[in-house]
Amino acid sequence: MLGDAGRGQVNVPLLQVDGLVKHYRGGGMFARTDAIVKAVDGVTFSIGRGETLGLVGESGSGKTTVGRAVLRLELPTAGTVRFEGTDLASLQPAELRALRRRMQIVFQDPFASLNPRRTVGASVAEGIEIHRLAPKRDIPRLVGELLEEVGLDASYARKYPHEFSGGQRQRIGIARALAVEPSFIVCDEPVSALDVSVQAQVLNLLLDLRDARELSYLFIAHDVALVRQIAHRIAVMYLGTIVEIGPARTVIDAPKHPYTQALVSAVPEPDPTKSTSRIILAGDPPSPANPPPGCPFVTRCFHPMKDARCTAERPRLRLVEAREVACHYAESA
Ligand SMILES: Nc1ncnc2c1ncn2[C@@H]1O[C@H](COP(=O)(O)OP(=O)(O)O)[C@@H](O)[C@H]1O
Ligand SMILES: [Mg+2]
Repeated sequence: MLGDAGRGQVNVPLLQVDGLVKHYRGGGMFARTDAIVKAVDGVTFSIGRGETLGLVGESGSGKTTVGRAVLRLELPTAGTVRFEGTDLASLQPAELRALRRRMQIVFQDPFASLNPRRTVGASVAEGIEIHRLAPKRDIPRLVGELLEEVGLDASYARKYPHEFSGGQRQRIGIARALAVEPSFIVCDEPVSALDVSVQAQVLNLLLDLRDARELSYLFIAHDVALVRQIAHRIAVMYLGTIVEIGPARTVIDAPKHPYTQALVSAVPEPDPTKSTSRIILAGDPPSPANPPPGCPFVTRCFHPMKDARCTAERPRLRLVEAREVACHYAESA
């Protein structure tokens, strides 16, 4: 099956991820070597054309692994990833390379995608050259246009990454992703490493580009306040699973999962007349090498109805008040 199979079909989402699992062998320096780290443990979601799904959760919850497995930068242990209806696992290497052009990533640290020894222009041009998207003589002009599209001067093409600030480097990373005309971009904490004042500028750039180019994003962040500014829908990750997913407003204004409630309670309330009480979670999340057998959140849960069922039986995502939530007692949240 080739990439055209799903193109143009109204009912096929741009990206469909089903039962995604990524287990790593070996849990780091001090772990038993036979330990299995369940970085992602059965994640299902879809993203429509032009849609942004925000993926939030604390450090180590598996967000980056989801993003990398979706792009097949990591081979999934189980599950399927379909892009425009095409199962990425069914593709021959050349077909996968062709499809990958349409799926790009913007990293938290733009240095990760920029070669310090190459000019910015060479880095931005790389994808155009690899995929032969334009005749050689047109490339300098295209690179200049891309740099201007991300708010930089076309003449910067001759400079090197170290000559730029963090925000400018992230703009270059974005230009590099855009160069191959993707329809989907994994943004993995794209502003987390930037100064707060610069964060908003880069976020606005991503919003403008999404509208101008009809891009879909998987927008990864640990900060709910950030995700709420860009995501249409939000998925909340905890210990390798999605515990709540739904429309951004619904999930943030009336979270049903206790973990989502704790995350949202940490967001500063701009309206001083509204009282908010911050929920401080006890303890650390369990190791993904040794997750609880029942609800992954049970060790830190403060739900008044928490009982033996939560320890024994893993709750599945189910529809409760316009979002899906994985909690046995979501109705009485
Ligand atoms: N290559 C790897 N080998 C072993 N464990 C890994 C590897 N990559 C990630 N992990 C583990 O998987 C879990 C999820 O990591 P990650 O996806 O980076 O989380 P997040 O992006 O939410 O911070 C963490 O416990 C991390 O230590
Ligand atoms: Mg990460």
